[in-house]
Amino acid sequence: MKKILNKGLTNLLSLSLIGIICQSSIPNKPLTTTDEKVEALLAKMTLAEKIGQLNMYNGTWEFTGPVPNDKNSKQKLDDIKAGKVGGMLNVLTAEGTREAQKLAVENSRLKIPLIFGYDVIHGYKTMMPVPLAQAASWDINIARLGAEVAARESAAAGLHWTFAPMIDVSRDARWGRIMEGAGEDPYLTSQIGKAWIEGFQGKDLSSEKTIAACAKHFAGYGFAEAGRDYNTVDVSENTLMNVILPPFKVAAEAGVATFMNSFNDLNGVPATGNELLQRQLLKGDWGFKGAVVSDWGSIGEMITHGFALDSLAAAQYAIKAGSDMDMESNIYVNYLEKLVKSGKVSEKLIDDAARRILKLKFDLGLFDDPYRYSNVEREKKELLSAENLKAARQVAQGTMVLLKNENNLLPIQKSVKKIALIGELAAHKDVPLGNWRAQANPNSAVSLKEGIEAALAPDQKLTYAEGYKLTEGKRTFINELTFTNPNDKSGFAEAVKIATTADLVIMAIGEDCYQTGEGRSQANVELKGNQLELFNQISKVNKNVVIVLMTGRPVAIPTVAEKAPAILQAWFGGSEAGHATADVLFGKYNPSGKLPVSFPRNTGQLPLYYNQKNTGRPKTNDFDTGLVFWSHYTDMPNTPQWCFGFGLSYTTFEYKNLNVQTAPKKATVTVEVTNTGKYKGKETVQLYIRDLDATIVQPIKRLVAFQQINLEVGQTQKVQFELTEAELGFYHADRKFYAESGLFEVMVGTNSEQVVKKSVDIQF
Ligand code: NOJ
Repeated sequence: MKKILNKGLTNLLSLSLIGIICQSSIPNKPLTTTDEKVEALLAKMTLAEKIGQLNMYNGTWEFTGPVPNDKNSKQKLDDIKAGKVGGMLNVLTAEGTREAQKLAVENSRLKIPLIFGYDVIHGYKTMMPVPLAQAASWDINIARLGAEVAARESAAAGLHWTFAPMIDVSRDARWGRIMEGAGEDPYLTSQIGKAWIEGFQGKDLSSEKTIAACAKHFAGYGFAEAGRDYNTVDVSENTLMNVILPPFKVAAEAGVATFMNSFNDLNGVPATGNELLQRQLLKGDWGFKGAVVSDWGSIGEMITHGFALDSLAAAQYAIKAGSDMDMESNIYVNYLEKLVKSGKVSEKLIDDAARRILKLKFDLGLFDDPYRYSNVEREKKELLSAENLKAARQVAQGTMVLLKNENNLLPIQKSVKKIALIGELAAHKDVPLGNWRAQANPNSAVSLKEGIEAALAPDQKLTYAEGYKLTEGKRTFINELTFTNPNDKSGFAEAVKIATTADLVIMAIGEDCYQTGEGRSQANVELKGNQLELFNQISKVNKNVVIVLMTGRPVAIPTVAEKAPAILQAWFGGSEAGHATADVLFGKYNPSGKLPVSFPRNTGQLPLYYNQKNTGRPKTNDFDTGLVFWSHYTDMPNTPQWCFGFGLSYTTFEYKNLNVQTAPKKATVTVEVTNTGKYKGKETVQLYIRDLDATIVQPIKRLVAFQQINLEVGQTQKVQFELTEAELGFYHADRKFYAESGLFEVMVGTNSEQVVKKSVDIQF
């Protein structure tokens, strides 16, 4: 199959296709709306053909799940020709997709085009920073731009559909997939998720520059117990409705074309077979008209969960629950017909699922031209274009979070002449690409070293030493990572030597990018290998150490946090990572990122999140008197190392004159923000609220809005927010959303800890 799908192809357009779908069942009445076209087509389809639309196969040479039996390849080809396949994933390139498409439209009876999906998570060829980093920009335009470029490249390479964005809220840095989402907060995740959807889909799905998006994983996947991927999820109704689901509701409202369900069981029911989630909430209450795809093999995994006895039962539960498309379980294609014939599943359910998938294909314009996205010329022009790389640098600049900057060590001044750069990660051209890197060319990122070299003034000199080595062996999406022996200190002497004589040391530490992503959970989020030991040695010989932290998750680095005078969180910054990081280090870009997730001091604090509840025994003056009977650890503070929303700038901002004007059912909040420092800068003004006496205990604070402002030195801007029921309300036990009258605390600030606040009474 690989060979066949990759070979060069003719450019044949299936003209007969247009004929088939444009005939109305009522003679002489042309079909105008998409719905009419879908219905006309459905009416012509046999049960087997309709079920075919619900079947998605892997392209068989690129695997993003357990590797299936390759002997199936021939069967898959025959199935495509027989109209038993609706879509494929991991079929790549303009040429490859064209070839696979040809199998369907030139052989199957109704010539219905295939839809091609792929995990375009943060870029296709040009890599953007990983999603968590993009969320750190708190910038809708930046997140949208990242997705827009990814869509343009993918659409030119024959793809119609990305399995992104992942909008799973996660409070657990152990979970490797925290890298793929927008962090711990439902509101930030909703806003960034919406921007990603807009970026992928644009205003017109049929444009050759856009692709369909997929809100995943529905639902609860980010709450895997103990942060272990695929693990069970057991959460309250309150957490489900108010923390996990809001980003998905916003995605549905934003017009996301598809949803993907998730591997986990949610309170005992696998998400794939979860009727409450998919049928009642998503397709019922929220009125979602798009298609729901299963996760890889997740219909089959319901048997392993112990929820379905066999494939027949799994098919029955999944289709009833509202899973429209079967990704790589081979279960719908083999069992649904039998279920309909035996009366266990109504054909109406099959129609409903097929209708959603056909509609998507119409919306994408595939019935007008099934090869429209598979354009070799456009692919050549679009991939890694100068414009896309420029966007990647711009996006990456906005994602950098300055965590510490004692004595204004940064930005690097012209007077700094000798710079020592240390760390394997500093010269790495592969790690910055991140995991889930689609078709990125290996080792194609601008390394930090290259970025710094390009940014140096003529009289500034850079020396480099590797110092430590982090991982060894095969580093790929599919291989388990092997860490280097921590006792290998062969590179230390050279690193210490260059640090000793330097004016300034830049040390890159963090993670291999394959430490994060699917199946990459860790029981410990501290630094691996001997990075810390080398840091300790370096900081003994030079006090001016700037740490560049490259990670896809929050890491616990208490020693570094205490000793290093400057720390910049640079994430996995994508193709242009090195340039963007250097732009910040040398002051070409004033950092503006804010953490989308709390950074712990210690793994044992996890799950850790700012929007916690107060408990009956918080840290108050009453309890903070040396007595033990309050909610705390005896060996560690409760607080994170860096809180949600935290991020410094080279300038400083002052917040004053908070004013909250109330009226029935609403309030107007104003605050004055002044740039009190020496650089112009961008600030994210964050608005938090607390409902002080609710029928369901509310978090001590909850982000409900934010605004970004650009201030010149000395400039003051008045920022205004409106608070309505949408911000002040929450879901109650009856799943109804409303606000309760009473006292609210209104807090505005530069991060979730440093706020100015006022209490007001608001009546609903
Ligand atoms: C499994 C992952 O959970 C999902 O996010 C991804 O889209 C599919 N595999 C397809 O690769």
